[in-house]
Amino acid sequence: MTPSENRIKPLQQVYSNYTSEDFAVWELLYNRQMDLLIKHGCGDYLKAVNEIKFSAQVIPDFEKTNAVLQALTGWKLRTVPCLCPPNEFFELLSEKTFTATCWLRKMSELDYIEEPDMFHDVFGHAPLITNVDYCTFFQSIGSLAKQYQGNEKAIQMIERLYWFTIEFGLIYEEGETKIYGAGIISSKGELLNALSNQPVKKDFTVNEVMLHDFRNDVIQNEYYVIQDYSQLKNSLGEIEALLKEVAGQ
Ligand SMILES: [Fe+2]
Repeated sequence: MTPSENRIKPLQQVYSNYTSEDFAVWELLYNRQMDLLIKHGCGDYLKAVNEIKFSAQVIPDFEKTNAVLQALTGWKLRTVPCLCPPNEFFELLSEKTFTATCWLRKMSELDYIEEPDMFHDVFGHAPLITNVDYCTFFQSIGSLAKQYQGNEKAIQMIERLYWFTIEFGLIYEEGETKIYGAGIISSKGELLNALSNQPVKKDFTVNEVMLHDFRNDVIQNEYYVIQDYSQLKNSLGEIEALLKEVAGQ
């Protein structure tokens, strides 16, 4: 079996399966986050939300979202029933494919879910997949993880890079610190934390991020701030060199 035949079978989003509770959850979360993101979300995220026509009243239709992503960057969302194993997740990134769930959390679990749902995967991640520099970086994370598959040290470093940028990254815009990481964009607690003076906010450097451990079970106490998305793309040479040096390949 080739690796692609071994993959988790994609799931068809059946739009008519969404219940009135699903729509109410989407609307509540959308409005709650947008109220804060209008002021604190990065410009490209807010612009992209309009481009891919997300709104509070309509749960995104993957086919329509994919048509926009394909036209802008050649990327697509692949609907999956559960969390993908890391190898498969990264391999798909290298093929310009982001795996996303299509289920929504219940009203009773608005602020805590065990595994990412569609609000995190789609509201949090999909909009910035319209940004070309961000996508180059995103795809390269996948390609590097594929290249270093089985090398524990290297994969750990790549996961840290992913964590402190794609999930929890901040960006400077016109003298202010704005949010672009999906883990912050999709969580009220994380967003309020990121806006407060509580956590440490440091300039992004490849060395620090890739050699720095993180915890995925707590609100973050450190964030890294990039200058712009081309900084991520332009860091790829340094990232490859560090992987070679530390993980030895
Ligand atoms: Fe995520």
